[in-house]
Amino acid sequence: MAVQSPKGMRDILPPDQPIWEKIRKTIKNVADFYNFFRIDTPIAESVDLFVRSVGEDSDVVEKQMFYLEGRTGSRLVLRPEGTAPVARAYIQYGLSHLSQPLKLYYEGPMFRHEQPQAGRLREFHQLGFEILSSENDPVYDAQIILAGMRFFEGLKLKDVTIVLNTIGCRTCRPNYRRHLLDYYKDKKKELCADCARRLATNPLRLLDCKEEKCRELKKEAPIMADYLCSQCSAHFKSVLEYLEELQLPYTLDHYLVRGFDYYSKTVFEYTIEGVDFVLGGGGRYDYLIESLGGKASPAVGLAIGLERVIEVLKSRQLTVKVKTKPKLYLVYIGALAKKKSLRLIEDLREAGLDVAESLGKESLKGQLRAADKAGSPLALIFGQKEAFEESVIIRDLKTGAQETVPLKKMVESVKRKMK
Ligand code: HAM
Repeated sequence: MAVQSPKGMRDILPPDQPIWEKIRKTIKNVADFYNFFRIDTPIAESVDLFVRSVGEDSDVVEKQMFYLEGRTGSRLVLRPEGTAPVARAYIQYGLSHLSQPLKLYYEGPMFRHEQPQAGRLREFHQLGFEILSSENDPVYDAQIILAGMRFFEGLKLKDVTIVLNTIGCRTCRPNYRRHLLDYYKDKKKELCADCARRLATNPLRLLDCKEEKCRELKKEAPIMADYLCSQCSAHFKSVLEYLEELQLPYTLDHYLVRGFDYYSKTVFEYTIEGVDFVLGGGGRYDYLIESLGGKASPAVGLAIGLERVIEVLKSRQLTVKVKTKPKLYLVYIGALAKKKSLRLIEDLREAGLDVAESLGKESLKGQLRAADKAGSPLALIFGQKEAFEESVIIRDLKTGAQETVPLKKMVESVKRKMK
């Protein structure tokens, strides 16, 4: 059997490139407007980075990491997400010395060893916006959520909804955690194996479980909103007020917790009615930088899954048409002309003229057919005789009219005819 791409990892073939280009352009427009600077971090990081940030008992760390073994026994992991690497870079390069808050964005591949299905890949691409050292001001939560919405709108996805919750802070969450433990303690037998185990370590994670029986149990579980400290309560209220001011559509989900350890306070996701998967998500991570060894720097961010966005665009026939200008076509006849064609193409390039060719094709008919297929308006026909005489035939491929011009005048004549 012929070699295949790895399971859950896709090629992006030429017909799909225009939509990716459009996505990158939209990202850049939003980033430039809201003053986010691009950051690129390595594809691989230390295992420790994700254990200490995403959390040891998260699905991502427990089940989904791709490990890389180095020759000397060193162990790295393909990055499953982009926030922890950005936080690592922020500390490593002392980015806190730049003007704060620091707004960063990235776009690139992430890796999670999941069972591939609709909207779920092992290699996928994320767009991420992060506001670091954001002084714990709720206005930045709103600005992050807004940036994501502007990205969707830039792609004509106008029915995205924000689902929102707050998971409190170091002060109020322990109390909520105790109430959750209390609620679940006599239900342990009804939980899935993962949740039964996580009950002791991280009961909030139970609210994120996708198993039917755990979802059923969650319906009566206590909610964070009832246990928020006054600071968290005021923070969340302000976030909602800012979203209302911006007229952004949101719904509250008291059980939204998201699966990573680094979150605190606001958490959110982007959804579309009728679409089974979440398009993106994020939240505040006020303690992450500190827990990785930096100085306390509250932050907030989001990531959007680009393959998921493309899937929705395609299902709505909202794809991108390629608008490429047809090029001139160079057609040669004979070995001498073929050799000299290489130089001729460079002359055209230097004159700023776009030219296509099929120099590997010998037959005149084959080359003209290729020119026709490419939609070229003009062909430059360069035969044995022309190669000797330093001339070229310019043929209008629509009318068939043609004229021979000296090579010295080629650029000028072509430009006139292309007008
Ligand atoms: P996340 O929710 O794990 O958050 O991922 C964000 C988005 O990446 C998801 O909503 C989804 O669109 C996409 N995604 C995740 N896993 C897959 C997969 N296996 N296949 C296809 N798409 C996938 C984060 O990664 C956080 N770093 C977000 C964040 C940034 N929080 C703060 N700043």
